[in-house]
Amino acid sequence: MNKITIIGGGNLGKSIISGLGNSDLFEAKHITVVDKSEHNLTEVKEKLGVSTSQHIIEAISDVKWVILCVQPRQLDAVLEEIKEELIADQILISTVTGTSIAEINEVVPKNKVIRVMPNTGASKKLSMTCISANEDVKEELVFVQKMFDTIGKTLIIEERLMQAATVLGASGIAFFLRFLRAMIQGGIQMGFHPHEAQIIAVQTAMGAATLVAKNGTHPEREIDKVTTPQGCTIEGLNEMEHQGLSSSVIKGVMASYEKINTIK
Ligand SMILES: NC(=O)c1ccc[n+]([C@@H]2O[C@H](COP(=O)([O-])OP(=O)(O)OC[C@H]3O[C@@H](n4cnc5c(N)ncnc54)[C@H](OP(=O)(O)O)[C@@H]3O)[C@@H](O)[C@H]2O)c1
Repeated sequence: MNKITIIGGGNLGKSIISGLGNSDLFEAKHITVVDKSEHNLTEVKEKLGVSTSQHIIEAISDVKWVILCVQPRQLDAVLEEIKEELIADQILISTVTGTSIAEINEVVPKNKVIRVMPNTGASKKLSMTCISANEDVKEELVFVQKMFDTIGKTLIIEERLMQAATVLGASGIAFFLRFLRAMIQGGIQMGFHPHEAQIIAVQTAMGAATLVAKNGTHPEREIDKVTTPQGCTIEGLNEMEHQGLSSSVIKGVMASYEKINTIK
């Protein structure tokens, strides 16, 4: 029976459940959400018609897939609670930042583990989800990729790149939004009301990303198309670079990467 239980119905859990609940991969009644909070459970039950429980052991007893969707500091307790109850052919899917497959397998050695790193775009079905697993996990990996295709785009990566994927994909949401905020601030200084500046900047950001995504071009190619010689765009671009735009973004990404490698 293709059943799945999601442990943790918080921000990310809800987005994943909404993708799976509206897909043909699982019947809604075969999706169970476990959370401590009655409020979270009522919300997912009412919106998506999935099953809910506050008892982990009961909820994982006859399912093939278990998604771990709790905070990193809560993972140890959850693994301790389920380790004696899991049977070998149950597959664990971990969304938890910073915990490796090997570390999870130290506690639950019999089970195959697949790591996934989505982002908050998941709530709008626009997640970028990076997925990795050990060599011996093949068929299951294909199915898990299908699961996360329901909430956006997916990419299978080597596990050694999972921290980098967290910075580029998950923290990346914040990085792009900070740039978006700066554009809005520039728009206000030029005379737009904040809500107008936001409409223009957001739509322009979506247009820019879509050009690259749909044309498959390098960003610089699309930049060339709007950069008239001696015009206002090149004037602005060069000033941004004189002020260190690309350099500060790369340094920020690398600072985030260095930090994530020290967090445990
Ligand atoms: N949000 C993102 O964009 C994102 C992206 C990639 C990866 N992640 C990873 O995904 C994981 C979940 O993130 P999130 O933002 O969804 O966290 P969250 O909103 O805090 O959700 C976790 C939920 O799990 C519940 N929970 C914790 N321990 C439990 C237990 N033993 N039994 C039942 N329920 C339990 C929590 O309840 P309480 O609050 O009552 O403890 C909470 O409702 C994290 O490890 C995070 O690193 C998140």
